[in-house]
Amino acid sequence: MKKAILVLLTSLALYFGNAQYSNLPIIGLDTGFVNPYNYKVVKTKQYSKASVSSAHPLASLVGATILRRGGNAFDAAIAVQWVLAVVYPGAGNIGGGGFLVGHHWDGKNIAIDYRETAPSKASKDMYLNNEGNVQSRLSQQGHLACGVPGTVAGLFETKKYGHLSMRTLIQPAIDIAEYGFVITEREANGLNSTKASFNANSTQPSVFVKETPWKAGDTLINKDLAETLKRIRDFGERGFYEGKTAKLIIEEIRQGNGIMTLDDLKNYKAKSRNAIVFNYKGYDIVSMPPPSSGGILLCQMMKMIEGRNISRYPFQSPQAVQLMVEAERRAFADRATYMGDPDFWKVPLKTLLDDNYINHRMADYDSTKATPSTSIKAGLIKESDQTTHISILDKDGNMVSVTTTLNGSYGCRTVVGGAGFLLNNEMDDFSAKAGAANMYGAVGGVANSIQPNKRMLSSMTPTIVLKNKKPFLVVGTPGGTTIPTSVFQTLVNIIDYKMNGDDAVNLPKFHHQWLPDEIAFEPAFPTDTKKALESIGYQLTKRESIGRTELIRQLADGKKETIADKRGDDSVAGY
Ligand code: GLY
Repeated sequence: MKKAILVLLTSLALYFGNAQYSNLPIIGLDTGFVNPYNYKVVKTKQYSKASVSSAHPLASLVGATILRRGGNAFDAAIAVQWVLAVVYPGAGNIGGGGFLVGHHWDGKNIAIDYRETAPSKASKDMYLNNEGNVQSRLSQQGHLACGVPGTVAGLFETKKYGHLSMRTLIQPAIDIAEYGFVITEREANGLNSTKASFNANSTQPSVFVKETPWKAGDTLINKDLAETLKRIRDFGERGFYEGKTAKLIIEEIRQGNGIMTLDDLKNYKAKSRNAIVFNYKGYDIVSMPPPSSGGILLCQMMKMIEGRNISRYPFQSPQAVQLMVEAERRAFADRATYMGDPDFWKVPLKTLLDDNYINHRMADYDSTKATPSTSIKAGLIKESDQTTHISILDKDGNMVSVTTTLNGSYGCRTVVGGAGFLLNNEMDDFSAKAGAANMYGAVGGVANSIQPNKRMLSSMTPTIVLKNKKPFLVVGTPGGTTIPTSVFQTLVNIIDYKMNGDDAVNLPKFHHQWLPDEIAFEPAFPTDTKKALESIGYQLTKRESIGRTELIRQLADGKKETIADKRGDDSVAGY
């Protein structure tokens, strides 16, 4: 083991020892950075220069090291995602997709879409049986559930905004995959509970499955993944979308009766989009446009409450919760009907973001009772909650907010034989049949129906906030349909209730998504508020946890208040 540590640390030292950065000190045991066999979770810290918050301590530590060694927030975002693909296989990925919202120090807003696409052989009714019923298992598990992965293309698109070479940024992930890292208790539990599903949905044995149960402190070594990452390092995007990796993916898909082809991989493109930008009480909020619904929902919800002075009601009082819930209900009602991949469906963006339209949506708000969802509109698309978020703010004022996912936990549970990584089950984010419930009991419509090469609608809401044109917040979370409502609450907590970052992230969250017509709430949600809402017609349902928010706030003294959600192994790092 000692030898492995030395090799890893030497190699970390070597890649930082490239020509441009050769005068910088190497990373070694003495610095205490990035030791994959011994790391700890840090939940809250203020950093003076730059920081990262992500779902895993090793990913945050590598990101902070990149920032320290001269990389900017975009470089760090790339390195963090490569590492998450190794150390957080439930959601970190190269077999999935994501969105990046960024702000360059020169004032430019950036939105990169690397959402998966439906394979070219996909068709509207591909998950229906002869009776026209949805076969949910096929859209949720195994080879047919998988969309064409976008993450690798997205990271190369992101590189346009960074300084360091991809070789530098990917090497920490290669080393951690090759020499291993110790897993957390949460990861051990996740791998153990998914064992049967990995076996059922993969054609070859993988490192994620072993005879005896995983336990905290075990070392996970993934040599196949290290080799896959090396091919990306050596051949760029083509090292994934063509050549040996592509062949391994398609061979796995073919043996499992999937439909993705080599051409699907070769033709995949990440896309730059125009970010959604709106103002809330003097703060400029920048978020993700379609094919995510996140930015539109966030804008609608915030604008619906903006003129109603929510902070006159105490935090999570019945009046405050009701106002937010009714905004959430109305925004989500629009989601099912109007939102889909803008390259295939005309999303009425201008109207959905128009102040008059949004105000009109709240015209029937009645603070004395619940508005039943049946009186608003029909149809809903709900999504799963295994996704992951990264927030980064660097010393020059570059801000990066990335949400990335395999969709379900460990995606479709198919490990690409010989390549060491999991594929997504993002096809389940399409509406398999208008009006039919998906795996979470939700329904969707034609805007999000399956079409070849189309991107499935998402809820991911990577968001940044500027105040007087300067960085103020970087924020986002996993959580399926609870993503936009969690970001909404976090922003209201900070802007309206003047909370510190820790409280804004960690106090209990609640969620309404129009259908089902209920408020989901975390266990610590105030009982008096629950009772008061029930008395005016709301139904409330307890949910173990909502989201895992990663937040960085620029404080007035220049420090970066950096918060990792208490709900997971999430951890911060910086300097
Ligand atoms: N698969 C989760 C989302 O995109 O919203």
